[in-house]
Amino acid sequence: MNYECLEFQQDGGIATITFNRPKALNALNSATLRELDNALDCIAGDENIRVLILTGAGDKAFIAGADITEMRTLTPLGARKFAQLGQTIIDRLQRLPIPVIAAVNGYALGGGCEMALACDFIYAAETATFGLPEISLGIIPGFGGTQRLPRLIGANMARELIFTGKYLSAEKAREAGLVNTCLPADQLMAGVAEVARQIAKKGSASLRAAKDAIRQGLNCDLNSGLEIERDAFALCISSPDAKEGTSAFIEKRKAEFAGSRDI
Ligand code: CAA
Repeated sequence: MNYECLEFQQDGGIATITFNRPKALNALNSATLRELDNALDCIAGDENIRVLILTGAGDKAFIAGADITEMRTLTPLGARKFAQLGQTIIDRLQRLPIPVIAAVNGYALGGGCEMALACDFIYAAETATFGLPEISLGIIPGFGGTQRLPRLIGANMARELIFTGKYLSAEKAREAGLVNTCLPADQLMAGVAEVARQIAKKGSASLRAAKDAIRQGLNCDLNSGLEIERDAFALCISSPDAKEGTSAFIEKRKAEFAGSRDI
């Protein structure tokens, strides 16, 4: 498919989606969300892709939020549909069977911060800025921010950010646990590519099992989470990844994982 609001690139097992509306600071309109949905379909169906990176075009923004121009004329019913569209696609991103890394190269505000929150982890340029400023527009986050931010950084820190709408620098976001690593802006993509390459060498099925166990476990109590982990561990143990990984250890060689996501 030809995209207008996204760029899709693939380099070996690593795919990159770049939000590409730099004149609007890559704001998320419905067209962008639909294109993202389509790109996620392609990625979900292609086992050659082992890791996905999300980033923004230009040097100013990752994504500056949902598209305010499109949003401001919505009726309550239209707003519900818009939130449903954004939430559904962002949830699909979170459930994608491969690791997803956000490379936040600038503003990650509102829906942009919510997109990054659904990724498996975030690397940020030192010049990046995070925030959920919806309160200043007289609305609230609608693409999952009131739910994912408190789960990641704790309820009180999330309340302060959502109630004030204030921005966090990349370094403050790292201190809060939102960002894993901050890098100089001109080293961000190389740093993200390096960690993506390390992950892409691992077994796709075991990565998928670990990702699912973490996601499901965060939504339940510890004992239920441990049960999910036991079941996933049991499934993994006789998988081709486990055969290759354990044999490589015994034979004192590097494991070469086949890349199938099936356990
Ligand atoms: N939607 C639509 N257009 C946007 C946009 C957005 N979220 N953010 C920026 N733009 C547009 C601006 O309107 C401007 O367009 P024009 O050149 O046509 O005027 C262009 O991008 C450049 O922006 P600025 O001139 O404002 O750039 P700046 O450097 O002065 O400021 C900024 C940068 C602080 C990020 C500022 O653009 C801004 O505050 N943007 C809005 C941030 C925001 O409130 N995001 C939350 C949106 S609501 C949401 O996301 C709801 C949800 O959860 C679903």
